[in-house]
Amino acid sequence: MKIVVVGGYGDIGSCVVEKLTEFSSHQITVAGRDLKKARSICSSFKGYVGALQVDVENKATLTTAFENFDLVINCAGPFYKYGANVAIAAIEKRTHYIDICDDADPLPKLFALNAAAQRAGVTVITGMGWNPGISNMAVRLSADLLGDIEDVNITWVAGSGDSKGLAALKHTLHGITGEVPVFRDGKNAKAPAWSEMEMVEFPAPLGEMPAFLFGHPEPLTLPKTIKAKNIAVRGGISPLWNNKALRVIRSLGLTRSPNRIDSVASLIHRIQRVFSVGGVEHSGLRIDIVGKKDGQDRHLVFNMIDRIRTLTAIPCAIGALMLLEGLITRRGVMAPEMCLDPVQFFDRLSDKGVKIMREGRL
Ligand SMILES: NC(=O)c1ccc[n+]([C@@H]2O[C@H](COP(=O)([O-])OP(=O)(O)OC[C@H]3O[C@@H](n4cnc5c(N)ncnc54)[C@H](OP(=O)(O)O)[C@@H]3O)[C@@H](O)[C@H]2O)c1
Repeated sequence: MKIVVVGGYGDIGSCVVEKLTEFSSHQITVAGRDLKKARSICSSFKGYVGALQVDVENKATLTTAFENFDLVINCAGPFYKYGANVAIAAIEKRTHYIDICDDADPLPKLFALNAAAQRAGVTVITGMGWNPGISNMAVRLSADLLGDIEDVNITWVAGSGDSKGLAALKHTLHGITGEVPVFRDGKNAKAPAWSEMEMVEFPAPLGEMPAFLFGHPEPLTLPKTIKAKNIAVRGGISPLWNNKALRVIRSLGLTRSPNRIDSVASLIHRIQRVFSVGGVEHSGLRIDIVGKKDGQDRHLVFNMIDRIRTLTAIPCAIGALMLLEGLITRRGVMAPEMCLDPVQFFDRLSDKGVKIMREGRL
């Protein structure tokens, strides 16, 4: 089958292409604004990989490009900026769609496409990465096993020497700004970004790290199918001084608009090595789920540490392959926890070498 990966030569997109070529024999096309970059990366993958020029801000290039594909995978961020453009074009071309969207902003627009996607007979999955992605599926699995869920706390800590992407940096600056979605006492709510610090324990080399409320989609998608009381996403950066630097950048008003974020992100990206001083090349994700089984208190923990690109690309590739294998039959717009079988998903993650440490008795 034929898959196009938009943003396919970016930090995460290139790893998605690598994993798809490793796990399957589908024909892959790398798409982005720079055809030269798309072509030059093709030879580094095994199997047939082609190149295509698209600009996700230009609808005409998208609909022309998506002719004759079975699946569009969208890794072109930042998603708060590009919204639902690529999903709209995929639906128009009656092509299945998966993205790794980690901003809450595009969700209302994406879910408003549900009826159009159903009419087109396609599946649109948003947030198929590490978080959102593995995070949602850990909550799905726990909800299926426990029944009652009280609190969900999703926490990521990124090693500043790990993520290399400009778009990911813009996402970070956006996620610490303004108000962010949380789910409190069974209701959608907002809270100030980069507030309510908690210390969270990760495996070595991260150890105990501070994490702050951060703008992410999970508090909006999880309550659609999972009954919980409180859901929050926190984030943090290693080394610790990066968190202070982010607070200063925000307090100077440098993250107040997408244009300002573009400028400050480009500057930081050029001197990213400075921000890596004292940091590690690994990132961590921890999901804490507190609930009850048969009236007894339960606290389940999923903990993982690896490179972000690996932890994001493997679940994305697994979601894509499960969809193309016909294991996801639901049509319309959905988050991973609404359509993927959690046991199959975690079995496949483990088969592909993603190590998840679990604590807590079921
Ligand atoms: N869900 C998750 O778990 C998860 C995890 C990590 C990252 N992410 C998100 O994934 C996104 C990608 O991160 P990254 O680290 O890979 O960033 P990156 O290295 O900057 O990659 C972004 C890619 O998108 C392309 N792109 C940007 N603007 C475009 C446009 N207008 N038209 C077509 N292509 C465009 C870029 O190429 P050109 O600029 O040359 O066109 C590049 O290939 C970010 O938004 C990040 O927040 C999600």
